[in-house]
Amino acid sequence: MNIVSTEIQDYAERFTSAESEILTELRQKTLGERADNSMLSGFYQGRLLSIFSKMINPRRILEIGTYVGYSTLCLAEGLSEDGKIITLDIQPETNRVAKEFWAKSGLNDKIESHLGDALEIIPNINEIYDLIFIDADKPNYRNYFELVFPKLRIGGFIIADNVLWSGNVLDVKANNDESTIALHAFNQKIQKDERVSNILFAVRDGLMITRKEKN
Ligand SMILES: C[S@@+](CC[C@H](N)C(=O)[O-])C[C@H]1O[C@@H](n2cnc3c(N)ncnc32)[C@H](O)[C@@H]1O
Repeated sequence: MNIVSTEIQDYAERFTSAESEILTELRQKTLGERADNSMLSGFYQGRLLSIFSKMINPRRILEIGTYVGYSTLCLAEGLSEDGKIITLDIQPETNRVAKEFWAKSGLNDKIESHLGDALEIIPNINEIYDLIFIDADKPNYRNYFELVFPKLRIGGFIIADNVLWSGNVLDVKANNDESTIALHAFNQKIQKDERVSNILFAVRDGLMITRKEKN
């Protein structure tokens, strides 16, 4: 389901700043060579993540779901001078691609990556985050949120990707697969959570943007 018409999307992209050459190279390689390329954030969402990060100017970012490291580089663009992005993924093969491109990006020193199950890694990293991007396996979104929430500073943000799941969340009875059910339940949970303020931002596949107001 296209939330925005192709014409409007093209127009919006024409009036959006260009990305770096390394991001274009990584995006084109991923789109050209990988069957799983729908996982990539893509140009427009990448620019959105970059500008959100620049607005927040975070010292610590946690990314759950590195894939080929494209969104990692977009988010890293907004880091403070002494900032660092910690990114987690379970897949060694895509991690190798990510590392190859980070090395050429000029941002490598600001990226710390961990390979393994995010649910096991998160408790072992002692950081307080300013911005967290949840973009891994959908059935675990709720678990990720609860696990990271105590590690997010008050006033910090959690952005969760794909919360519209191609529009499938509109009818959970008809689309009763595990990811659709989990994402709809995640959206309901966030909407009821009195510790946060939130907006379901209807761009691309839907971003749930949550600000921590209190513990
Ligand atoms: C949608 S992709 C991430 C896309 C990337 N953030 C971007 O925007 O370009 C999801 C990633 O989550 C990873 N993943 C899935 N389950 C995971 C888990 N339990 N722990 C860590 N990573 C996981 C997958 O290997 C995959 O690379």
